[in-house]
Amino acid sequence: MKQIVVHSPGSPQAMQVEDVPTPQPAADQVLVDVAACGVNFIDTYQRSGVYPVPMPHPLGLEGAGVVREVGADVDFATVGDHVAWAGSRGSYAEQVLLGAQDCYRVPEGVDLTVAAALMLQGLTAHYLSASTFPLGADHTALVHAGAGGVGLLLTQLAVARGARVITTVSTSDKEALSREAGASDVIRYDQFDSVSDELPAAVRSLTDGAGVDVVYDGVGATTFDGSLASLKPRGMLALFGGSSGQVPPFDLQRLSRAGSMYVTRPSMGHYLATAEERSWRAEELFGAVRSGNLNVRIGETFPFDRAGEAHAALEGRRTTGKVVLIP
Ligand SMILES: NC(=O)c1ccc[n+]([C@@H]2O[C@H](COP(=O)([O-])OP(=O)(O)OC[C@H]3O[C@@H](n4cnc5c(N)ncnc54)[C@H](OP(=O)(O)O)[C@@H]3O)[C@@H](O)[C@H]2O)c1
Repeated sequence: MKQIVVHSPGSPQAMQVEDVPTPQPAADQVLVDVAACGVNFIDTYQRSGVYPVPMPHPLGLEGAGVVREVGADVDFATVGDHVAWAGSRGSYAEQVLLGAQDCYRVPEGVDLTVAAALMLQGLTAHYLSASTFPLGADHTALVHAGAGGVGLLLTQLAVARGARVITTVSTSDKEALSREAGASDVIRYDQFDSVSDELPAAVRSLTDGAGVDVVYDGVGATTFDGSLASLKPRGMLALFGGSSGQVPPFDLQRLSRAGSMYVTRPSMGHYLATAEERSWRAEELFGAVRSGNLNVRIGETFPFDRAGEAHAALEGRRTTGKVVLIP
């Protein structure tokens, strides 16, 4: 089978499509024919060495496909089932192995490419809006990169929970997409000389000087200071990523001076801790897709031999919604 492998950390060109033996499922695993693979920022961090991983490294964590073989003890899937996953190493491949913990049943009526696009960013948007800071009708949230993969899903889930959502984006096309997803106000942070100084002023002018209850910040280095200064007293900054770079070490005294703020750095695995939690989140997401209440935007798809272009586009801020690889 074909698989995308990195032998040493580097640029998008470090990814190579290789022929490797098709793996055999253990007794508690299924072998899946992959229909579509999701591209995520974490893949670029692992490829480039921002998150060090042992080399050679088979890339990819997410996808959807059809069960081809089942191990002797498997009771969570049968041959022919449509399944999706969000945390299986080596997912940029024609076949992957899944255990019960990684395997989500894709319900009828949900296309496999949409399922692949939904899993990792959707589960993230779900845990951020329902658990990290559970949003309700009294809340205003600031979501950075509002036209990104997480951004579009998080905006829709937050609005569905009754919250008001303000987003940031860098282009007018992204602004239109973010408004379509339900943002009440969209801030063009690309037009600021200093995001740290100008973002809080823009947010306060939209909130009668109050600031927001929560900032969901996946941009990191360039936005962190502005995010903190955009909060209400006792507000929460959920720093869930660093698409612009990682946030440097931080003096905790700043939280007191800023207004007794909370900062958390959540990670998806800790919010998928039990089988119940995993099925609750997945069922809500698939249910919302099936009922037409959650739109999963697939911005672009690439074949395996153009995976480098997919990573370059994501890192170069040229994507909207989800980027998908088709084996
Ligand atoms: N903690 C978790 O559980 C978890 C799970 C999933 C994803 N994440 C994180 O969430 C963030 C968003 O992930 P995503 O896959 O949905 O990506 P994305 O938002 O689709 O793409 C990243 C966006 O960040 C913005 N950005 C601002 N400055 C940037 C820069 N210097 N370089 C590149 N992009 C920049 C761009 O939007 P504009 O052009 O509009 O600024 C860009 O489109 C990433 O940091 C990712 O690591 C975390």
